[in-house]
Amino acid sequence: MIKWKEEFSVNIREIDEQHKRLFEIGSKIYEIIELNDNCDHYDDIMEVLNELTDYTVFHFEFEENLMRNYGCEELESQQFEHMFFIKKLKKLTDKDIDKQQTETESDIIKFIIEWISGHILKSDMKYKQFFNEKGLK
Ligand SMILES: [Fe+2]
Ligand SMILES: [Fe+2]
Repeated sequence: MIKWKEEFSVNIREIDEQHKRLFEIGSKIYEIIELNDNCDHYDDIMEVLNELTDYTVFHFEFEENLMRNYGCEELESQQFEHMFFIKKLKKLTDKDIDKQQTETESDIIKFIIEWISGHILKSDMKYKQFFNEKGLK
């Protein structure tokens, strides 16, 4: 399981809070998968995936609006990456996950957590200094 760590901080309180929330929702999927009780958790997982998709859309819009308002030149590449991830999440929630295969579910959650972590560390970090210099906290 992965948790938000200090190295994920962009020094902007609101955005750090939103990133923490993304990890929290992601962890909920882990918890369901790790139950290992031979029950079918397909619906539960889909529910959390939908929650994650909604919150991700909200977070990405928040970041993009901030970048637009401050004229941050990272906007375009952020929009591109954000769009890719939303499309991927929507595909996952559209498509049936094979109910018998926890491996598939683990693959999905692994992909999600790795994508979010990688995006924060590689891409969101690029606007950190820009916003910090603008005095955003
Ligand atoms: Fe972000
Ligand atoms: Fe982002």
